Amino acid sequence: MRLTVAPTPISRFRRLRKSASLRALAQETTLSVNDLIWPVFVRDGNNLREPIASMPGVERRSVDQVVRAAEEAAELGIPALCLFPYTDPAKRTEDCAEAWNPDNLANRAIRAIKAAVPEIAVMTDVALDPYNAHGHDGLVQDGCILNDETIEALVKMSLAQAESGADILGPSDMMDGRIGAMRAALEAAGHKDVAIMSYAAKYASAFYGPFRDAVGATAALKGDKKTYQMNPANSDEAMRLIERDLAEGADMVMVKPGMAYLDIIHRAKTIFGAPTYAYQVSGEYAMIKAAAQNGWIDGERVMLESLMAFRRAGCDGVLTYFAPEAARAIRDGRA
Ligand code: PBG
Repeated sequence: MRLTVAPTPISRFRRLRKSASLRALAQETTLSVNDLIWPVFVRDGNNLREPIASMPGVERRSVDQVVRAAEEAAELGIPALCLFPYTDPAKRTEDCAEAWNPDNLANRAIRAIKAAVPEIAVMTDVALDPYNAHGHDGLVQDGCILNDETIEALVKMSLAQAESGADILGPSDMMDGRIGAMRAALEAAGHKDVAIMSYAAKYASAFYGPFRDAVGATAALKGDKKTYQMNPANSDEAMRLIERDLAEGADMVMVKPGMAYLDIIHRAKTIFGAPTYAYQVSGEYAMIKAAAQNGWIDGERVMLESLMAFRRAGCDGVLTYFAPEAARAIRDGRA
């Protein structure tokens, strides 16, 4: 028997796409400069900006030039910078002691930004990879990355960063129990208002390649990080990690990498409703830049589309090397 279709009006979704004003009225998600966190690489020296070959447009900056970046962020309305030090190989040791040196690069950069542009929020990286010769995020013994011993080091590192004036600590190490230990130590030391953005769901990803180059850990890394970073095949585990880190005192949670993990972001935001961020990592940046430089894609449009996608998936903000470029596109009405 042939079914007859009821004579309902055709649903014409195209009505609301007819003009820019109707599209604007129907737009569900927005991208604003308030959603951007700008990761910046710090090196020693003075008045230096050194290009990173695998990340076109990104530079390692001496502390004075990091302050210039903070000023640029303030002008553009970007709320936060996140600092990643390129540590002199001579200061990389087995015990990673440079990590909690109050005068290390990261801590000097925090103080310099806070002195010059106090309204910019400063986020840090809490992990040991810039401070040893093997490129792992923790202390290593007989080829194993030690969990609890690493946490003691991370706590010392966190306190030095808080002391220097950091607003947000970003533990990217993936040791178990570090959030609780850091939170307790911050409370005990009187740093009750220092926020923690946990790299809660950080995957053992090939997308970090250019970053390891930027912080000088590419040649160094022995093996891989699969015993502490997550298996890209897992999603339930990410929810359990986020739940655990929030319970231990994280204020914000991050999913990393970004574009290949939008399902994780969406699930996390839906379940927990916590302030949720993504890290659009070095490899994602490099892919877009490389294709744009070859003339294969429109780099600015792909950048803006990718950032909007993070927002649509549920992100409150995105760490992205595109931050200043995106902020200018937003300011000039191209977003
Ligand atoms: C390590 C760290 C990494 C990144 C941020 N912190 C690399 C890694 O885990 O090996 C990657 C960021 C990027 O790729 O842009 N503490």
